[in-house]
Amino acid sequence: MVSHKNIVVTGASSGIGKSIMDELVAQEGNRILAACRRADKITGYGDNVIPFSCDLSTKEGVDALFARAGEVFDKIDIFFCNAGAPYYERFDYEDWDRISHIFDLNTVGHIYVYSKYLHHLDGREGRLVYTISAMGEMALPGYALYAATKFAMKGFQQAIRDETPKNLQISCVYPVSTRTNFFNVGGGGRKMEPPFPVQAPEKVGKAVVKGIEKLKKHIYPCPVYLPSKYLMNILPPVKSLYVQAQKGKLRRFVRRVEAEKEGVVENIKLEREIRK
Ligand SMILES: NC(=O)c1ccc[n+]([C@@H]2O[C@H](COP(=O)([O-])OP(=O)(O)OC[C@H]3O[C@@H](n4cnc5c(N)ncnc54)[C@H](OP(=O)(O)O)[C@@H]3O)[C@@H](O)[C@H]2O)c1
Repeated sequence: MVSHKNIVVTGASSGIGKSIMDELVAQEGNRILAACRRADKITGYGDNVIPFSCDLSTKEGVDALFARAGEVFDKIDIFFCNAGAPYYERFDYEDWDRISHIFDLNTVGHIYVYSKYLHHLDGREGRLVYTISAMGEMALPGYALYAATKFAMKGFQQAIRDETPKNLQISCVYPVSTRTNFFNVGGGGRKMEPPFPVQAPEKVGKAVVKGIEKLKKHIYPCPVYLPSKYLMNILPPVKSLYVQAQKGKLRRFVRRVEAEKEGVVENIKLEREIRK
């Protein structure tokens, strides 16, 4: 049981973060500082859930979260570093800010949390849980930037485990496609076809908390993920077929985006005609 703990969950208002929080709330004596940008969306819980609004893609946001944690907890026993977002796109543009933004949220913020948490613990015991992704082990077309942010986290956790003092334990979670807002925000509100298999966020939340109970270093919520990964490694044509299917999804997505743009251009032409 994960019980009687002071816990921070980021990205707590929806999807995987919310499911992790729901699991933790159901266990005795946990107090949760629940963070996201719009904490007014975190409703229906008791006094043991403290909503907090902050933008975790900024230093100020992460600092503010730790300051709030210092006010409400003596010590953070578990920190779920989960907030994150994808881009789903054909990567063919020059836009420094857009590239930086996804790294700020999914990578820089998460790495900064590590140092902040280590200093907060000051030798006391704690556990840092990173939601990485299956995409942090296998990148797919359409997710070049997103996968890059997750591969970076995979590398970071690998190196830092051999540096970190013994009082800080690290667990990493590798969900496959999960039915959350992820597939709404990624394509800017346009329909995305998730890579298969697809899981419910509740299943992921349960698997994560079970993994933490067992003090696992790596948590794979989808039971078919590791066998599939193994199969693809020993049988490259299987991997190639899988990637081809994802390429088809990206092609259809790009066609929709282009049709939309053409639609906008056609509408503008039509409006001009009407005005004449
Ligand atoms: N869904 C999947 O298929 C999948 C698969 C593998 C890994 N993951 C990872 O799982 C994590 C959670 O994603 P999800 O699928 O649960 O997506 P989600 O339903 O969109 O949840 C994202 C959460 O992060 C918060 N958030 C977004 N930007 C933020 C910011 N700048 N500062 C603070 N909070 C922010 C959102 O709340 P606000 O909008 O109010 O800020 C929300 O609570 C992410 O790290 C994602 O990469 C997801």
